[in-house]
Parts: sequence; structure tokens; C-alpha cells
Amino acid sequence: MIPGPIEPPARLLMGPGPISAYPSVLRAMSTSLVGQYDPFMTGAMAETQELYRGVWSTDNDATLLIDGTSRAGIESALISLVRPGDRVLVPVFGRFGHLLAEIAERAMAEVHTIETEWGQVFPPSVIEEAIVRVKPTLLALVQGDTSTTMNQPLEDIGEICRRHGVLFYSDATASLGGNAFEADAWGLDAATAGLQKCLGGPSGSAPITLSPRAVEVVQSRKKIEAGIREPGDPSAPDFVRSNYFDLGMILDYWGPRRLNHHTEATSMLYAARECARVLLLEGRDEVIARHERAGRAMLEGVQALGLQVFGDIGHKMNNVVAVEIPEGVPGDDARTSMLEDFGIEIGTSFGPLHGRVWRIGTMGYNARKDAVVTTLAALESVLRRFGASVPAGGGVDAALDVYAGAQ
Ligand SMILES: Cc1ncc(COP(=O)(O)O)c(C=O)c1O
Repeated sequence: MIPGPIEPPARLLMGPGPISAYPSVLRAMSTSLVGQYDPFMTGAMAETQELYRGVWSTDNDATLLIDGTSRAGIESALISLVRPGDRVLVPVFGRFGHLLAEIAERAMAEVHTIETEWGQVFPPSVIEEAIVRVKPTLLALVQGDTSTTMNQPLEDIGEICRRHGVLFYSDATASLGGNAFEADAWGLDAATAGLQKCLGGPSGSAPITLSPRAVEVVQSRKKIEAGIREPGDPSAPDFVRSNYFDLGMILDYWGPRRLNHHTEATSMLYAARECARVLLLEGRDEVIARHERAGRAMLEGVQALGLQVFGDIGHKMNNVVAVEIPEGVPGDDARTSMLEDFGIEIGTSFGPLHGRVWRIGTMGYNARKDAVVTTLAALESVLRRFGASVPAGGGVDAALDVYAGAQ
């Protein structure tokens, strides 16, 4: 039997991402397709690059999109910047640090990690000590790790990397848009993200920005594929071992040469463009403040319900909180009730936190008062039905107080 047309249920996505997209992003995605060299398309690509310079806070010419989910951005950065045998240092404070180490290992780097307990971040001095010891070519550091909700401070790291001649890459998938990120002022050489968190879009496009120093590395490993290669094009012996993620070729596709590589994912480009457009229209600082407010309202709301919050709250991302599941409440059944009875998705967790915490996000389009209080009201009801003793209306009141105080 052939199924009917797709009819997704109405959901309020309040997990650690993906989240409900801005309606205008969904509208942008349903607009007409054009050919990949249509002047409208190349114009939209150039506009998107300029918009993301604003989002990343950078003048980097090499600011573009990688087609694929956030890890496509990570893979393209690491496989293009790291030569086999290069030393890469990865400070790990959650699941996504392990992912950076894993991807760097597949890029055949000599990977060194330092680890801190989940729920904590690294002081810059610890990272510097490791840099001095390991002497890496590149430091790969997650900014916001959704697995623990922690936001690693990056402000001082670029200067440390510069002093020791190390390239500085950060994965800002979970944090960009909802927390400060200053690519140029903080000395980033490369950074990547995704749309499905604070940027308020669907997953499937990975914004990336590269400093001139990073572009130099990428260009020195350039190999253009046969069939489009022209006389005089370089063919470096230590070329990037991925065709799809070869940033040299991708830059030529996005740059004035418009050298054919993949076929740019048109609807995702429209989505990414709209995510950046709505963010900059509202104002970068204003959007971060909206995330801070929604995050604080959710935090104070769950605390007012008598729930404990995991990790060092002083270093929590604005956009997600890890809530300890109260004794006696079946975590997965409670999440199912949130979904089936209220249409609200909250997140489970990984590794050492699995079964211990729920992760509740307030990001992008859903960093909104009504989304926060609706989620808290539903959570209170679900907790009570599963036998927890919770103060009636306490979570909603605390959240509304945050909003009232912030006006
Ligand atoms: C910090 C971080 N990095 C990478 C990823 C992987 O993203 P994707 O699933 O879009 O490939 C995630 C997803 O949650 C993330 O939070």
C-alpha cells in the first residue's frame, strides 16, 4: 500500500535539538528551486556568506555552508586542516569532544586528549599546559556540548593557540546563535555549526568559517578532480583524503571560479539563509539575550518544581538544561507521556548521564515564554502522575517571574 502524503503531528520540540524551526524558515524551504548557476542562486549563496559573517562575527572571506549535518562541517574542517600524522589535541568534556577525537583519528591524526569530568569545563591554563606538552598542529574544542549542557569559555584560547603556533578549531553546533561567539575577536581559525539548535532551522546544512591562516593550509593541499581540472591547477601530494569534504574544492565552488563540485542543496541554502536573516534582523545580542532569558526561566522553573540540575550551572549553555530525574520516576515513561499526552519532546541523555537526566532545550524559535511555561506546566503534571511531589504551579510561576523581572 502506498502511504498518504506526509502529515507530521504537531510537536513542540524542547529537547537538546533538533527544535521546531522558525515558520519563515519552513516557508523559505518550500519556495521554487533554481539551477545551481542561475544568477539568483549564486546571488543567494553570496548573500548567505555575508549573513553568516554577521552570525559568526567575522570578516573571513571563507564563510560558507557545507551540505550535510553538523558533523559534515566537522569532518570537512578536520580532514582538510589535518594532515596524516599531525598531532591534534582534543580537550574532552562530553560526548562531542569524543566525536572530534574520533573524526581526527579517522583523518589519520595523532590524537591526544585531555578529559575533565562531565558537568565541568576546562580552565584555559589546563589547555595551555596540554598544548605545551603535546605540541599539536591543531586544537579541536567543542564550545557547547549538548551531552553535558556545558559551555566551554573560548575567549582566551585563541591567543594561547596563536602564541604556540597552533590552529584553533571549535565545534559551535549547539551554541552558535544562543551564546556569544566571536570568531575574529577570539582568534578562531575554523568553526562549524548546524541549523537545528539555536539557529532555528532543520538539520542538514553546516555553516563554516575559516581564517586566512586556515585557508592557506587548505589551499596548500589542493587537488582538483579530473574532468574539471585545468592546466596549471596544483595537485599537492598530500591532498585531502575526502573528495566531498575537500574544502579547497568547496571553496572554489563558492568562490568566483564557481568550479563545479557537489550540487548545492538549494532548499537547505534557503533555510540557512533565512536562519541567519531572522537572527540578524532581531539582532545578534538580542537573540542571545532571548536565549539567556528563556534558559534562566526554564532553569528557575525546574528548580521551583524541586528538581536538581546537573553540572556547573555557572558554565551552562543558555539554551539547554540537564534535569536530574527524581528518584522513583521512570525517566523514559515520563518522556513518553510528555510526547503523547502533551505533544512536547524533551531529551534523553548519553553515556554516564543516560537514565540520570532529561535535557530540556529552549532554543531558536522555541526560546519563547509560551514554550517555556507550557513545557513546565506539562512537566509538573507528568511528574505528579508518576508519583513525585511537586508544588502546584511552582515551575510556571518561577518562569513567569523571570520574564516579569526581565521586562
Ligand atoms: C556539539 C555538537 N556537535 C556535533 C553534533 C552533531 O550534529 P549532527 O547530528 O547535526 O551531525 C551535535 C548534535 O547534537 C552537537 O550537539
